[in-house]
Amino acid sequence: MEKKRTRIAFIGGGAMGEAMIRCLLTKNVVASQDMVVSDVSQVRRELLKKEYGVNTVADNREAAKNADLIILAVKPQNLTQVMGEIKGLAPNQLILSIVAGATISNLGQGLGHSCLIRAMPNTPAQIGEGMTMWTATAGVGQKQRNLARTVLGALGKEICVTDEKYMNMATAVSASGPAYVFLFIEAFVDAGVHIGLPRDMAQTLVMQTILGSAHTVEKTGKHPADLRNLVTSPGGTTTEALLQLEKGRFRSLLFEAVAAAYEKAKRL
Ligand SMILES: NC(=O)c1ccc[n+]([C@@H]2O[C@H](COP(=O)([O-])OP(=O)(O)OC[C@H]3O[C@@H](n4cnc5c(N)ncnc54)[C@H](OP(=O)(O)O)[C@@H]3O)[C@@H](O)[C@H]2O)c1
Repeated sequence: MEKKRTRIAFIGGGAMGEAMIRCLLTKNVVASQDMVVSDVSQVRRELLKKEYGVNTVADNREAAKNADLIILAVKPQNLTQVMGEIKGLAPNQLILSIVAGATISNLGQGLGHSCLIRAMPNTPAQIGEGMTMWTATAGVGQKQRNLARTVLGALGKEICVTDEKYMNMATAVSASGPAYVFLFIEAFVDAGVHIGLPRDMAQTLVMQTILGSAHTVEKTGKHPADLRNLVTSPGGTTTEALLQLEKGRFRSLLFEAVAAAYEKAKRL
């Protein structure tokens, strides 16, 4: 007997919706004809159809109608309207929301539905190197959890939590995090240019240093402080640089930045 195909509907085909579609196709999780995207923008609908071969519609309700999994990927300010439009779902239809700040309780009330997943991906999902934290309601069955894990796993790494309180923390660390890292990369390259390196050379040195250091932490499993000590010879160059970073409160500034993002996420 032919295996039942999973049909996925995207409500909102913007930057994140497109990143998800691209990853799902690249990793062969679902075929383009089994995906439908609804978006208010005709430009987006045409682009997604042309680029990925997915079905597109202007009506959110029509997109959601026969889908096994409905992914909400609109901006927070459009969520209430969207939920009103697609309300009245079948009990076994799974909703997966990536809308920042929309809690399981908001979604449950807005949709009158109890089969829900709240997920927080990040932008490296655009190249399949994302980090997504997600949580599911008790109404989500094992097969649906497996489906969510496969879909979110196509974006990169995923981690499932049972306590929703971690979602705001993930917002401050992994969802906003790429912006901190991009700023660090930019400043690090500029610093290399400042001491006389050609920009392309500085960029190559910085990128491989960051990638190599991250992989070293991952592969050795050693504490970053131990690895840092290995680079820091007594009276050497590294300790001079570290002194300046400590004077500038590099470490405590990062604590404060992440805490500020966390407080903001709780207020959304
Ligand atoms: N970007 C991130 O790093 C990130 C990370 C985690 C979670 N998220 C969440 O992902 C969600 C989507 O973000 P995004 O960056 O993909 O936003 P986006 O690029 O603005 O995409 C949203 C799309 O939905 C369309 N839309 C607006 N109202 C609609 C409606 N009523 N029905 C159907 N489509 C509608 C928008 O069209 P118009 O542009 O014409 O309005 C746009 O094409 C947000 O809730 C955000 O919080 C984003």
